[in-house]
Amino acid sequence: MNTQPPNHCSAWQSLGALARKAPKIADLFARDASRKDRFSTDAAGVRFDFSRQRIDSAVLDALLELARERGFEEWRAAFLRGDPINSTEKRAVEHVAQRAGDVPGPTRALAERVRGDARVRRIVHLGTGGSSLGPKLVVDALGVHDTALEFRFVANVDPLDLERALAGAEPDSTLFIVVSKTFTTEETLANARAAKRWLGARDPARHFIAITGNAAAANAFGAADVLPIPDSVGGRYSIWSSAGFGALCATGADAFNEFLAGAREVDLHFAHAEPGRNLPLLMALVGVWNVNFLGMSSHAVLPYAHALKLLPAYLQQLEMESNGKRVDREGRPVDYATAPVLFGEEGTVGQHSFYQLLHQGTPPVAADFIVAAQMDGDHERCALLGAYAEAQADALAFGSTDAGLEPHRVCPGNRASSTLALERVDARNLGRLLALYEHKVFAQGVIWNINSFDQWGVELGKQLARRILSRRQP
Ligand code: F6P
Repeated sequence: MNTQPPNHCSAWQSLGALARKAPKIADLFARDASRKDRFSTDAAGVRFDFSRQRIDSAVLDALLELARERGFEEWRAAFLRGDPINSTEKRAVEHVAQRAGDVPGPTRALAERVRGDARVRRIVHLGTGGSSLGPKLVVDALGVHDTALEFRFVANVDPLDLERALAGAEPDSTLFIVVSKTFTTEETLANARAAKRWLGARDPARHFIAITGNAAAANAFGAADVLPIPDSVGGRYSIWSSAGFGALCATGADAFNEFLAGAREVDLHFAHAEPGRNLPLLMALVGVWNVNFLGMSSHAVLPYAHALKLLPAYLQQLEMESNGKRVDREGRPVDYATAPVLFGEEGTVGQHSFYQLLHQGTPPVAADFIVAAQMDGDHERCALLGAYAEAQADALAFGSTDAGLEPHRVCPGNRASSTLALERVDARNLGRLLALYEHKVFAQGVIWNINSFDQWGVELGKQLARRILSRRQP
């Protein structure tokens, strides 16, 4: 398995030379009338259009050669075979196996029991990081189907978060779903203890369901129904496992199975498509080009669909917790950039906040526009949304540099973006979209020779907080 630094690859040197004369986006379009088609790829119903990137055939060939030199296909095989590629934790990485079929019978049965329990009116999901962001995104994107249950998500240890989630709730009709892979995350446990206090003398076994890899701790807490999260499924990859239980209760099994099926389609594509047509690999390589060769250390995710407004928050954890790394697989400090800073906002809301910087600011930011061909709702507003997405991508790419423009009006253009086009925002396409980004992250980890599946950097803050607390408490 290749664990050499990527900048020792000959393709890395070629890319460095190509970057010094990187093409202008406007010139690329002027030279090639078929550019939009040639620099777009379809997979599992999703179109990835990277024609507005500063990439020509020579750059693309060199990026694919880099993937080859880095042993992308061998790493992909090892990942999908279940080899322990999470080396620092000596674990396989098995989130793909979690969506290899429909929701498992016992999980589905418990969800149906909850959905059919006339005593339950409100579900309060307690969890943070990967134990919150995925379920919250799915419920927000897909909505609550065929049940009158109300859903709330509490991730912050700030008492206000739980207080707001409980406003208007009655203890007798409230069910808490505690999601914590480790069942040691202080914030989640503190919220769970506060929830128990709120319930008073009521039996916790009737009011708490736990989703965890630490069943003993969950039982000791008082939960009777406990669903497992396997060790080999990282928090930020756990939405496909029983960590998605809250979302399953909201959407129902049919929609959740569609969500899993969408991801599965992408898994099949990722496993078998040749590199030049492999959509997640292409997303990864475009990112590597921007980060490592064009010096773009920020990445904006801009979903032009209100249903995807939580996607940037979800991807922040997925990308930055996975690939925000400073040492490689051999423990050597890297001397090249890894994950960019990812941020974003739903279009068109972001247009009226930070897009000014995207168009005229000094830090170079790469962007992903996410659009849906079919939207529900009145034609006027849907048309406006679609037009804005295209207009913003064009404005970034081509700018406005007419002679005679006052300097403050000039938009220089040549600012890179890609567009991911879904047919519509539904369960299947959401599954596809998340799986595409997951495999992109994996492929970038391969290129950068880092372990995308640990997160040691978050531990120090936890230890220090414990030390500070013990000093402050009498
Ligand atoms: O501290 C980071 C982290 O470990 C994430 O990786 C994880 O998703 C989150 O905390 C929650 O962890 P747990 O599910 O164990 O409570």
